Amino acid sequence: GAPVQADISKLEPGQRMTVEWRGKPVWIINRTPEMVERTRNFDEDRLADPASMVPQQPDYVSGEMRSIKPEIGVLIGICTHLGCSPLYRPEPDAEGVGTDDWPGGFFCPCHGSRFDLAGRVFSNVPAPTNLEVPPYRFDSDALITVG
Ligand code: FES
Repeated sequence: GAPVQADISKLEPGQRMTVEWRGKPVWIINRTPEMVERTRNFDEDRLADPASMVPQQPDYVSGEMRSIKPEIGVLIGICTHLGCSPLYRPEPDAEGVGTDDWPGGFFCPCHGSRFDLAGRVFSNVPAPTNLEVPPYRFDSDALITVG
């Protein structure tokens, strides 16, 4: 599949957009500084794979936010359990995510897997690995090429 370019110039803080790459939904999330802080402060003991490695992400992303820039997240929007589409639940007081002390993130309605705003999977859910980070680069502050 060919690379796809995304224009994020109108992506407001806290919002998510979706582009399609190789027939898959790719989410681009504009995480606010507060969302970044919340994710970084989350208790790693509640995550199944806090260190996250290749092949779930390219080798040029690292750290808690699993991204090139802390604010801009790029994730393949497919649950790593059986492929459902997780819901975007960015708020710490989101309802229906099945846990207190929710850091904001993605909730899969099929079997209840939970991921934080960096796509890191919680312990004790069916999904075995973090959401995948596709290859991507910034062409400018406003343009991202995925693929
Ligand atoms: Fe997402 Fe099963 S497909 S939890």
